[in-house]
Amino acid sequence: MASAWAYLTGAKGPSGFGSASTADEVARAYADQAKDKVVLVTGAASGIGMEAARVLAKYGATVYVHGRNEARAEETIKLIRESVPDAKLRPFVAELTSLKSIKTAVDKFLAENVPLHILINNAGRRGLAGRTEAAAAGS
Ligand SMILES: NC(=O)c1ccc[n+]([C@@H]2O[C@H](COP(=O)([O-])OP(=O)(O)OC[C@H]3O[C@@H](n4cnc5c(N)ncnc54)[C@H](OP(=O)(O)O)[C@@H]3O)[C@@H](O)[C@H]2O)c1
Repeated sequence: MASAWAYLTGAKGPSGFGSASTADEVARAYADQAKDKVVLVTGAASGIGMEAARVLAKYGATVYVHGRNEARAEETIKLIRESVPDAKLRPFVAELTSLKSIKTAVDKFLAENVPLHILINNAGRRGLAGRTEAAAAGS
């Protein structure tokens, strides 16, 4: 009941943020920790993921922008650059229901020889259960 009330009123919790806080406000508060970090945001082509990618890039992180295909990732990078022109963005392309596609994307990332400091596993659809293809088959 208390949490529902806090959600509805936007009251701040122990973190100092509440439902009325924006991603930008949170990222600004942690800007020192985001700067020069390498972050991968899955599901960055829309919604919460896109905004998380945008604000992290705004505060100096290098962000790998995940999209399910090249067009989704590149379009997202273009959109983010409209508000953060100097954003350090790289595409990360993977269809997350396919283990083969994930492996291809990971191999490509590893070949770039950069560290991964932060992984934001955001991709998904609320209320939709699914299985990764090859994983489900046991390979
Ligand atoms: N919004 C809310 O109120 C809320 C509340 C609780 C939890 N969440 C969770 O927060 C996350 C983001 O929510 P959102 O509202 O921002 O959702 P959204 O706008 O639907 O974004 C989800 C993103 O994940 C990507 N995605 C989904 N399945 C994928 C797959 N198999 N392979 C590659 N990409 C995939 C989508 O790509 P495409 O656009 O190409 O499909 C999309 O970019 C989700 O995990 C959701 O369950 C959201």
